[in-house]
Amino acid sequence: MENHPHFPYGFIERVIVSEDDIRTRVKVLGETITRDYQDSERLLLLGLLRGSVVFLTDLMREIKRPITMDFMSISSYNKSESSGFVRIDSDHKTNIRGWDVILIDDIVDSGYTIRTVRKLLLDREPRSLKVCALLDKPERHKVDIHIDYLGFTIPDYFVVGYGLDYDEKGRNLPYIAAIDLAKGEG
Ligand code: IMP
Ligand code: MG
Repeated sequence: MENHPHFPYGFIERVIVSEDDIRTRVKVLGETITRDYQDSERLLLLGLLRGSVVFLTDLMREIKRPITMDFMSISSYNKSESSGFVRIDSDHKTNIRGWDVILIDDIVDSGYTIRTVRKLLLDREPRSLKVCALLDKPERHKVDIHIDYLGFTIPDYFVVGYGLDYDEKGRNLPYIAAIDLAKGEG
């Protein structure tokens, strides 16, 4: 696999969602959102930095409605594993009161991030609030999470690509790949 142009990182095990499958699915999600928000005059795509950026910027171009985008930066209190403690590093700028908000994240793992941010946003009185995630690992959920717009359900692998990282690496891969750390850090 070394020097293979499609596997620029040594720790890539295998592709689990291809570039084509992502493109097709994102198109469908965009069409669904376009339909669901036909009557909305104030639609905000609110992404969680940094993992959702690639997904959000592709998705927004498949939504045939006026939209605004904004971002929040969140980190888990305990870096080594997902914990119930979530800290806001940087908040969104838009006053979301009265807005139709779609909260967008790259992947739902334990579910703590979405649960916490959702609660916080509801206190800010949006007109509506829905959750959109590219990936879901249901086997890992620690809390009940409803995902209104989901890209793909995947098994319990650690994945990178299309915005998702392993230690800040791999975000630029155009597909979703499972990693194998035994293969090295390259
Ligand atoms: P949760 O709060 O446990 O649901 O964690 C969600 C966050 O953990 C995501 O937004 C990602 O930043 C990160 N995460 C969870 N699983 C993965 C993965 O397989 N690859 C990359 N990041 C992940
Ligand atoms: Mg994240």
